[in-house]
Amino acid sequence: MIKPEHEPRGDYSRMRADYTVAQNYSGYSSAEHDLYRRLVERQSAKLAGYACEEFIENVALLSSDGIPNFDSANHLIGAATGWQIVAVPGLVPDDVFFAHLAARRFPVTVWLRTPEEFDYIVEPDIFHDFFGHVPLLLNPVFADYLQEYGKGGMKALGLDALGYLARLYWYTVEFGLINTPDGMRTYGAGILSSGGEITYCLDSPSPHRLGFDLMRVMQTEYRIDRFQDTYFVIDNYEQLFRETAQDFTPLYPRLRKLPTLDPSNA
Ligand code: PHE
Ligand code: FE
Repeated sequence: MIKPEHEPRGDYSRMRADYTVAQNYSGYSSAEHDLYRRLVERQSAKLAGYACEEFIENVALLSSDGIPNFDSANHLIGAATGWQIVAVPGLVPDDVFFAHLAARRFPVTVWLRTPEEFDYIVEPDIFHDFFGHVPLLLNPVFADYLQEYGKGGMKALGLDALGYLARLYWYTVEFGLINTPDGMRTYGAGILSSGGEITYCLDSPSPHRLGFDLMRVMQTEYRIDRFQDTYFVIDNYEQLFRETAQDFTPLYPRLRKLPTLDPSNA
């Protein structure tokens, strides 16, 4: 969920009112299936010691030969947590995105990057959305957190506080780290779908790795064009759920008076 400056990529001409489309599975070429396979292969080899256990287990459960078929994946996801994925042409407006999450539907982009974008892509494609995000939808506590996030987003829209919630999404759902009995790992989709950041986030001495602190997260800016300078580390998903369960309405006026923090100088 990154906001590019340019027009979003994708075909928005055949969508329904809620921005969903048919996945049109038979429309993918064999070159696209092959590219997806290579992305999965490259990334799967990097998971051990970096991805959290839930991710590694669930990515295996969801595995497919080539591009995943959303209908088949939905049987598994629905049985695990009642979530569903819905096909979308690409980025969707904030209110639409939040409404889907609040209804336990995760929007997944239908198109795949080009071979030139193997290592880096600005906008989320099907590899980022499916490989990065869907495995954690099978975790009951994380799944509940994401639904609450959707409801909180709808509320924040009316309070003109979207920027604060966007930081929370960024530093948890996209770039979150987690302490486990085996050491620090990542559960963030932006990291798990990145060939470079997955090792950088844990091995590099340069970024700050701070314990999760709700107010601090919402005060901290982020960069979308480079590896992160600051990560926030949770101890478990229950902590994430618990510490975000309070009504944020009184937090927003407080945040407006607090300084904005620069992630490179945390
Ligand atoms: N509790 C938050 C609110 O009242 C909503 C929320 C839940 C936000 C979980 C993020 C994550 O606005
Ligand atoms: Fe994402």
